[in-house]
Amino acid sequence: MQIRLDGKRAVVTGANSGIGEAIARGLAGAGARVCVNYVVHPEAAEGVVNDITHAGGQAFAAAADVSDGTQVAQLFAAIDRAWGGVDVLVNNAGVDGPRAVGWEYPPDEWRKVLAINLEGAYACAREALRRMIPQRSGVVVNLTSVHEVIPWTGYSAYTASKAGLGMLTKTLAQEAAPHGVRVVAVAPGAIQTPINASVWENPATRADLLSKIPMGRMGQPDDVARMVVVLASEAAGYVTGTTVVVDGGMTLYPSFTHGG
Ligand code: BGC
Repeated sequence: MQIRLDGKRAVVTGANSGIGEAIARGLAGAGARVCVNYVVHPEAAEGVVNDITHAGGQAFAAAADVSDGTQVAQLFAAIDRAWGGVDVLVNNAGVDGPRAVGWEYPPDEWRKVLAINLEGAYACAREALRRMIPQRSGVVVNLTSVHEVIPWTGYSAYTASKAGLGMLTKTLAQEAAPHGVRVVAVAPGAIQTPINASVWENPATRADLLSKIPMGRMGQPDDVARMVVVLASEAAGYVTGTTVVVDGGMTLYPSFTHGG
């Protein structure tokens, strides 16, 4: 079976690096038109756009901070002007925030993580669904994390935002299903990107991380992108409201390989 998204109008938030970049490239490779959203580093976004267009695809870059409602509205207005609507939204933009136990977490930083990861994803989903519901087609893919289910000391804001995004996915999926629109989540494990460079660049912390992954390797952005492409396509036409975990087994409690 071939996975194709020819002509589909897609927007990927945070698409100028890491997992989002791989998703933008993957969707374009399957034939979709892609809006490459970014906040900083416009040159990186233009690099992704150039690669896609040189390969014969269609893409444009659009700056917007998803935690700012006005900018989100402008992002979707730009997509309307370019393509007259949207078929695929990938809510990828996210931050993990500073590391601090909950009782020491700076409240403004805590709120900022929620504002980007959860409220930002909701704001984009709201705009996308208002366009998808009337056309009776479309897919929203939310990038959560293994920390949708695994607690993580020092990251209460991040884990709460990802667990919240998991339940937002299910509720929006229930609401949208009768209208022919799907809402799904993908939960990456430890994927080698800038967000966790400080961990994988250091041999000791890298070894610790690998001990948490039964498959014995970090994931690559394309490991996640391939699953997003499948979920966005008709190959997953009967899949909604669920989280697909892409983690090399990280959620399999590898510490139980021995003892117990
Ligand atoms: C985080 C990474 C981390 C991974 C596994 C992801 O959600 O962004 O920094 O390596 O979870 O813990």
